[in-house]
Amino acid sequence: MKSIKVFAPATVANLSCGFDVLGCCLEGVGDEMVISLSDTPGIRITKLEGANLPMEADKNVASVAVMHQLKALNDTTTGIEIEIYKKIKAGSGIGSSAASSAGAVWAVNELLGNPFTPAQLVPFAMEGERLASGNAHADNVAPALLGGFTLVRSYEPFDVLKLNTPKDLYMTIIHPQIEVKTSDSRKVVKPNVTLKNAITQWGNVGGLVAGLYTEDYDLIGRSLSDVIIEPLRSILIPKFEEVKKASIESGALGAGISGSGPSIFALSKGKETATKVAESMKTIYESTGIVFDIHVAPINEDGVRII
Ligand code: HSE
Repeated sequence: MKSIKVFAPATVANLSCGFDVLGCCLEGVGDEMVISLSDTPGIRITKLEGANLPMEADKNVASVAVMHQLKALNDTTTGIEIEIYKKIKAGSGIGSSAASSAGAVWAVNELLGNPFTPAQLVPFAMEGERLASGNAHADNVAPALLGGFTLVRSYEPFDVLKLNTPKDLYMTIIHPQIEVKTSDSRKVVKPNVTLKNAITQWGNVGGLVAGLYTEDYDLIGRSLSDVIIEPLRSILIPKFEEVKKASIESGALGAGISGSGPSIFALSKGKETATKVAESMKTIYESTGIVFDIHVAPINEDGVRII
């Protein structure tokens, strides 16, 4: 039986201005998965540790993503066994379901001799997101598969790009241990935006992409602004405004909601600043009585990888 073990990374989606289109991949925070080929056709979840998630193949995001992948290959004979060791909590806002979907399709692709490029794997992993949240958004699975920062330029037709990663960027994430389901958090988002807000938002998306390429850290910071989604969602996150303000006062380039929350991210230049930001986040949350985790992580340029 051929088998590989992979690291399936956590990701930060939206990056303030880029709802459903921008995301980035984290180093050192993520799940582990062991994926094996089996002589018995079909896809099976054989082990699931660290989370209370379904093991039935048609209900687990990892196996559902792989089903779509094998279907695209017209493959009805391959057997796949999936072991999942969850470290990322479901509903944390750092791409828990995306890590499982992306890790599974990436590993299966590797075991089958890489019939797909990483970008071609994104739509399969998106089917896992559809199952998890009712919406096939790609802004967590794309950075998990491609690494670094990614932009979904278009959903129809699907077009995803990997962007440049400035070397000194560090992410600080605070995860308050309250569950905010992506499906619930999407319900508070309004379907229409004003032209005024749209102009502000697409200016910032362009500014962030330009800042990533020119490695202009100040421009990155100025562009980390969200006038459309954050005002609606931030009320679901205790102390959001205080944490954002304290992060920026501690030197962060910018801060916002990680994905659909409740995690809050801050981007900083350099590990030292990112660590100071972590301290300021910690001070605020210690007064709430809410249990929380904090991560300081560099950007992961590789995405899913064999360990
Ligand atoms: N773009 C998605 C959302 C990401 O904000 O709902 C979920 O992690």
